[in-house]
Parts: sequence; C-alpha cells; structure tokens
Amino acid sequence: MNTTVDSRAQIKFVSQNNQLVPYADAKISIMAPGLTFGALVFEGYRAYWNEEKQDLFIFRLEEHMRRLEFSMDLLELDNPPSIETFTNDILATLKANAFREDTYIRLQVYVDDWGSMLATGPVGSSVICRPRPRVTDFSTGKQFVVSSWRRNAENASPPRIKAAANYLNSRMAGLEAKRQGAGGAILLNEDGTVSEGPGGCLFIMRDGVFITPDVTSGILESVTRRTILEFAASAGVETVERTVGRTELYLAEEAFYCGTGQEIMPITGFDGRLVGDGAPGPATRKLQAAFDEIVRGRNASYDDWLTPVYND
Ligand SMILES: Cc1ncc(COP(=O)(O)O)c(C=O)c1O
Repeated sequence: MNTTVDSRAQIKFVSQNNQLVPYADAKISIMAPGLTFGALVFEGYRAYWNEEKQDLFIFRLEEHMRRLEFSMDLLELDNPPSIETFTNDILATLKANAFREDTYIRLQVYVDDWGSMLATGPVGSSVICRPRPRVTDFSTGKQFVVSSWRRNAENASPPRIKAAANYLNSRMAGLEAKRQGAGGAILLNEDGTVSEGPGGCLFIMRDGVFITPDVTSGILESVTRRTILEFAASAGVETVERTVGRTELYLAEEAFYCGTGQEIMPITGFDGRLVGDGAPGPATRKLQAAFDEIVRGRNASYDDWLTPVYND
C-alpha cells in the first residue's frame, strides 16, 4: 500500500542538476551509486502559504541547508553545487509550479552515473516540490509502540547524517508498527535509551516539563525539534534535552512527535498505555498554536526563520 498521496498531476516542473525539467523527464542511471549503494543525502523542507500576505514561506531554509552541508561532507561528495545554487533551485522550482498552498520540498544529492560503492562523483541533484497539507492526526494524535528494532548506531550508520540508506532502519520499525496496528514507532538506541521515531523526534512531558532525547541519543538533528526548544519558552512551555529511559514514556503526562512532515503531532499512548487521559495535552496544543503562527508568518519575532518565495 502506498500512503504518500500521488500528486504528480499537480507537478509541472522539477529541478534536476540545477535545470528545470518536466517531472517525467527527470531520470537517474540504474548504475548510479546513489541508487545501487544508497549514496544519497537529502533534505525535506516545508513551505507554508499565507493567504493575507499572498506568499509562500519556506521554513528555516538556512538550518536545513546547514544540515545538508554536513551530510554532503560526511558522504565525501566531489564538489557538490553550492548552497546558493540549491537555494535558487528550490525557489525556481516553487515559482515554476506556482504553488499557492502548503508545499513539501525534497532536495536530493547523490552519486550519479556509474560507479563503485566508494565513488564520490559525479554528483547529481534534484528538487521536487509537491502540495502537502497538514497531517490529519495533527488534531487527534496517534498511539505509538516501542519498536523491537534498535536505532542504527552512531558507529555503524550515523542517524545524524540525513542519508537515504538510514531509512532502512526506519522502514523496519515503521512496518513493524503498522503490522501491530499502531500509529507510529519509537526506537531505542543501542544503549537501550529512547532515540526517536522513523521520521521524527520525540518530546514527552514529566512534571510539567517537556523532555527530548539529546543529540547523542541516536537522533537526526531535527530542525523542528531545535525550533521547539528555541520558541517553547515564549509560549510559556518549559523544555529540556536529556537522556530518556523507556519507562519514562509510560509515565508521560503529554507527548508529541515532531518533524517537517508531522510538524507537532500529539502522541496519545505508548504500547497501549495512555499518555495522560489519552487526549492531546494542553501544553502540546499551546505549542501547536504558537508553531502555526510562526510558520505562517504571523509572529514577527520569528520572521528571520522564513524565506518568502514570491515577494522576495
Ligand atoms: C529520522 C528522522 N528524525 C527526525 C526528523 C525530523 O527532522 P526535521 O525536523 O528536520 O524535519 C526526520 C524528518 O526529516 C527524520 O527523518
């Protein structure tokens, strides 16, 4: 079953190797190491439509680009295009499609053409933008389970690198959770403490404070997680980063999952035990509301986090 909405009909152009082309014309060689050995790093961004300003705002573009630079560096890619070039690719692709709704952007950088497992070039890239409304579970939340799979280890396949190859681990956990009828999975790391989910980070509340596993817990350094740590206090919500033990999930007063795709999505239970009374918590709701104001350009204090697409 395919759970990603097929929006190909709405996509006029994508960018490949820094040129706009029709989606159907974007191709990759079947011998490209990006495909054969997963030598591919990527970023996922969201752009939010603001009706009053009649503009689309890319959220935290610079932070995503910093992480991309780090991922490309660790893959040891040969002279990849500059961040400025990639930024222009994203802006050009959004404009070419004239999207006037919430949009998800995926930028991929990979070893192209023909090569061995150790090939570091030639480097190819692509940008695809597609309409992507907010997940429906944003209001209701979902129940999660602790996966029997461990998060890939820092010294094996570092989760800090946003590499497609890391998503085998995510896939195993996600498929297991789905078979169990759960809404999502939480992975423990090799030390047995809590890391994150297949495609998002975690916050749980204890004694009124939201706790999120620290950046050495086997997580992707999530832009959304960092954003929440930065703005939560202004919404009257206290946060802390530290190691999280498994049983703390079962003691949580509130919990949520976060990431570019899910934004801030309430978690209503772990392993069949309810979080609080099983409904999204009040502090989670407060963070969701404040987040929405920020991403849509309705809180001037955070305008620096937004890149306008049409009125630049
Ligand atoms: C494994 C994983 N963790 C966390 C996140 C959240 O990261 P971000 O907030 O930067 O989207 C993602 C989403 O991209 C992810 O795939």
